[in-house]
Amino acid sequence: MQKFAMQQQEADKKAAAVAAKRAAAAAAQSASTSSSQQQQQQAPKKNIGFLPPGYVAPTSKAAAAQQRKESFEYQFDEHFLVPERIAKAPSALVEAVNDFHYAMMNDHPRNRFYYELLKKHVTPETGVLEIGAGSGLLSMMAAQLGAKWVVAVEGSTEMCRLAQENIKANKLQDKIKVMNMLSTDLTPKHLPERPHILVSEIFGTMLLGESALDYIQDVRERVLRPDTVIIPQMGIQYAVLIDCPTLDSICSVTQWNGLDLSRVNSLKDTASCVFTKKYGFRMSSVPFKRLSEPIKILDIDFAKTNQGFSKLERELRVKAIDDGTAHAILFYWTAFESADGEIMSTAPWDTLDNFPRDMQWGQALQLIDSGKEQSEPTALEVKRDEEYSFMCCTSEDHVIVQLNFMGYDKEMHADPLAELEEVNLDDDMAAEENGADAQ
Ligand SMILES: C[S@@+](CC[C@H](N)C(=O)[O-])C[C@H]1O[C@@H](n2cnc3c(N)ncnc32)[C@H](O)[C@@H]1O
Repeated sequence: MQKFAMQQQEADKKAAAVAAKRAAAAAAQSASTSSSQQQQQQAPKKNIGFLPPGYVAPTSKAAAAQQRKESFEYQFDEHFLVPERIAKAPSALVEAVNDFHYAMMNDHPRNRFYYELLKKHVTPETGVLEIGAGSGLLSMMAAQLGAKWVVAVEGSTEMCRLAQENIKANKLQDKIKVMNMLSTDLTPKHLPERPHILVSEIFGTMLLGESALDYIQDVRERVLRPDTVIIPQMGIQYAVLIDCPTLDSICSVTQWNGLDLSRVNSLKDTASCVFTKKYGFRMSSVPFKRLSEPIKILDIDFAKTNQGFSKLERELRVKAIDDGTAHAILFYWTAFESADGEIMSTAPWDTLDNFPRDMQWGQALQLIDSGKEQSEPTALEVKRDEEYSFMCCTSEDHVIVQLNFMGYDKEMHADPLAELEEVNLDDDMAAEENGADAQ
């Protein structure tokens, strides 16, 4: 049961966001008094894919009331005990805090990463804007470091309240203002001046899984200065081929006691990226072998990159660094300011000692189908130094990524050097034979 309660956060967040969107749309439809022009003015500026859990569109009072009804206690039958302190709290908030906020705040290397970058740039003259205050931690860091002013936006009403409480508890309320709104609704008028620093941590298990690029690009174009420092500025989404029999043992079946169970394999999902959190394990505690160098799927400069920066379908050549069976593609990311500075990474070899990071983000996995069999997927046998071709598909907002093996291409695998050597070998043998004959 616990495993299922720990479902992947983005899926939950997206479901909550979709529910909020639907409720908002329904309420907006039934609100006959408000003109469509008013609704348009109040609606978020851009329709960005990911909405934070607990976000309620400002047009939708009915949706807000509905959400209040969705208090945590309603998840349980009446005879279950639900502590009073959480009984009336919104389910989305209790779930979000327990699902990932605790882990996130306890990821001390993550906190240190932000602290060091803020320390580098914050001065008594700098104004700091944060997208996505959450508990208020990053804003409080900026205030603690002596920023002139700090403004944070937080899409979730309840989370915003929580941030305000934390800020008050730390006596920083005169320095930090947290506003309950989406960043897309923020305008320069909400700020004392255009910010010198933009800080945010709105990354998912996939780097852009929570629409970080859309949200940052949006404020970059409307609210920031040309020289506003963006923390973190760079992000790279990687993929790597892995040989992982342990993963295979929970994602396919052959037989038991002579009974053929292999028909079930026809349903194997080789199309989706599944988060390790959903599988219920940490990649860093599962034995696996890397079969390729890391492949850069997305290379983002949050100060420059715009949506539409890459094709939605791209062919990638992947060179195997070892022989093996490629069962899956492992996705992880890094965020940083400069390659030689602080780096925040979700790669399993970087999270060995970071249980909270694995429990918050973890990594994503896509099972590979070599396409050898029609009826069921098969893993891909790879040979060291040979190249394999994959098609990388991304959704328009780059939230969803898929890598597909392009099929076994004999020509591509033909090694011209090997052929040359074969020819030379034959020639040498013939020469030797001739020589022997001559003697
Ligand atoms: C991963 S948490 C990070 C919280 C905090 N900044 C930290 O690092 O500890 C992201 C928070 O940002 C909020 N959020 C995400 N996108 C947002 C947006 N575009 N505008 C406002 N809030 C957003 C979410 O509701 C969530 O509380």
